Amino acid sequence: MEKNTFYITTPIYYPSDKLHIGHAYCTVATDALARYHRLIGDEVLFLTGTDEHGQKIENKAKEAGVTPQEFVDRIVTGPRGVLELWKLMNISNDRFIRTTDDYHVRSIQRIFRRMYDKGDIYKGKYVGKYCTPCESFWTESQLVDGRCPDCGGPVADAEEEAYFFRASKYASEVRALLLTPGFLEPASRVNEMINNFIDCEGGLQDLCVSRTSFTWGIPVDFDPGHVVYVWLDALFNYVTALGYCNDTWPASDLERFWPGVNIVGKEIVRFHSIYWPAFLMSVGLPLPKKIFGHGWLVIDGGKMSKSKGNVVDPYMLAERYGVDALRFFLLRTFPFGSDGNFSNELLVNTINNDLANDLGNLVSRSTAMVEKYFGGTLPPEQAEGPEDAALIQLAGGLRFRYAGAMDQFAPHRALEEVFRVIQRANKYIDETAPWTLAKDMAANAPRLARVLYNLLEVCRMAGVLLTPFMPQSCERLFAQTGTPDGARTWDSVERWGGMPAGVTVKKGEALFPRIDVKKELAELDALVEEMKKAAAGPAIELEPQSAGQVDFDTFCRSDFRAVKVKACEAVKKSDKLLRFTLDDGTGTDRQILSGIHKFYEPETLVGKTLLAIVNLPPRKMMGLESCGMLISAVHRLDGAEKLNLVILDDAIPAGAKMC
Ligand code: ME8
Repeated sequence: MEKNTFYITTPIYYPSDKLHIGHAYCTVATDALARYHRLIGDEVLFLTGTDEHGQKIENKAKEAGVTPQEFVDRIVTGPRGVLELWKLMNISNDRFIRTTDDYHVRSIQRIFRRMYDKGDIYKGKYVGKYCTPCESFWTESQLVDGRCPDCGGPVADAEEEAYFFRASKYASEVRALLLTPGFLEPASRVNEMINNFIDCEGGLQDLCVSRTSFTWGIPVDFDPGHVVYVWLDALFNYVTALGYCNDTWPASDLERFWPGVNIVGKEIVRFHSIYWPAFLMSVGLPLPKKIFGHGWLVIDGGKMSKSKGNVVDPYMLAERYGVDALRFFLLRTFPFGSDGNFSNELLVNTINNDLANDLGNLVSRSTAMVEKYFGGTLPPEQAEGPEDAALIQLAGGLRFRYAGAMDQFAPHRALEEVFRVIQRANKYIDETAPWTLAKDMAANAPRLARVLYNLLEVCRMAGVLLTPFMPQSCERLFAQTGTPDGARTWDSVERWGGMPAGVTVKKGEALFPRIDVKKELAELDALVEEMKKAAAGPAIELEPQSAGQVDFDTFCRSDFRAVKVKACEAVKKSDKLLRFTLDDGTGTDRQILSGIHKFYEPETLVGKTLLAIVNLPPRKMMGLESCGMLISAVHRLDGAEKLNLVILDDAIPAGAKMC
């Protein structure tokens, strides 16, 4: 049978700064929707990318003293850049478009000419206002208190020769489209669009689609001096990435996947639900199936902004709590179409309540009991009991309710449904009291086996349906609960009972460790303060020295040496510190203190050759002097910190200099 196709996109983000949690929110939501469609058997194409032209980027690059291309390359492909972020967040996009990609540039030039040849683009003069951060033209009457109605920032006067797109020609068709049920969602945004931009005084205005006051854009190939307006360039990405007007992608992709669903933030619904369809009407392409305008993550009710220093860094959170916990938090907590107030407290509490307590406990208690009472494998002789029906009934209809929510682009509701069943299963443990049944195994073994089977079945169903949200953790859930491959599919959760009766579990580490809320919030506050200080600087500083870089001379002054551990002991009254006596090749012992007791027993390190930096100023810790620092690799695994000392080959003599 031919598969259904499903094409879904995020906005293409401006690489004018590092991306923040708001961008991650949209991308994670789109990823969960894409993964859901793959799970149900659709052929999915998921596109994201970056919107790299425009005045904002040109200005930022100037500030950083580099070319715009160098600037965007750094933010997109550089360390902790956009590509790395999506890799870390386990984003499953099939394509990534950069508007500086050659094929896109060529496509846009062809599209612009096509619209011009058709008479939909004409030359004129723009006189009005411009908001550079939003890359938006405004008339005086659209401003709110003289400021940009979208971002609230200042606008500048703009007066330049420009090409215009005859949006007015398509006003009534766009109006009808906006009124088509399901086209623009949430539907509450429809009236706002119609009233403010179509039925307003003067009707839908023609849109300026070229700029002459700066150069960082796609040149209009028949009129040097003009570059294509960044929003026309950007909106068409959704079809150029499918091969429209270029031969980089198979021509059949456009036919196969377009029209698709464009997921966007609420502030750019105007561009997507009015101008984007009008552009498509002009070039004769089908209109998007849906524009979904999601809400914003706000902080204390206000927008995140670099100048306020309250921009939340997704790298920091993902590394601290684990990617899946962060993905889950974002989609579980905030209804997708509405604004949500982000706070660290909410994040930590959601991880503790939903993941550590509800889901994590269900999995660990269920598998632990199967091991304890049945040595890890359930016997197939099982006996139903009066407590089963309510649980089975609720879980039996879960897939249907979950699909209903996902099909309506309401991932938060889908998660609510899954967690309702998980919570019910935890209650079922209390109702059936397996520990009481276990007291008389001769009489109760079949009943106990059934109770535990039912718990594992809920874990399995939850695992399948949570996979689009937390792919890695669900793999671990499946491994621990012994869910076979065939019971991890969409079909297998259509009804109750997909888990084999004689399943064998394999208890493992907690899926989601509990977090000490008070300690964590204090640490986070301190981190945020540090980040605020760092955020006061520019997005990237490439010359003379980039943020996070040291110059070569400073690097060369760092004295890294091989050191041999002669003795190592725990420092009294300290949980963390180890005291190392080291041979550093000078003939005099060197003492270094290191807070790694959590990771190593001191006696295991004696005789090892380690790497140390030996020319740091001495520091006192617990009254002892530390002369240098041992080098280790630190990372987070599923929210827990891991540390490994860099251990060198024993053939390297003490004192050998690293260079
Ligand atoms: O507008 N909360 O790019 P952009 C939730 N290049 N989502 C947020 C958010 C927040 N606080 N902040 C940003 C552009 N977003 C254009 C798009 S598309 C053809 C061109 C998300 O870098 C949200 O999805 O300003 C928003 O629409 C998008 O990032 C804007 O990203």
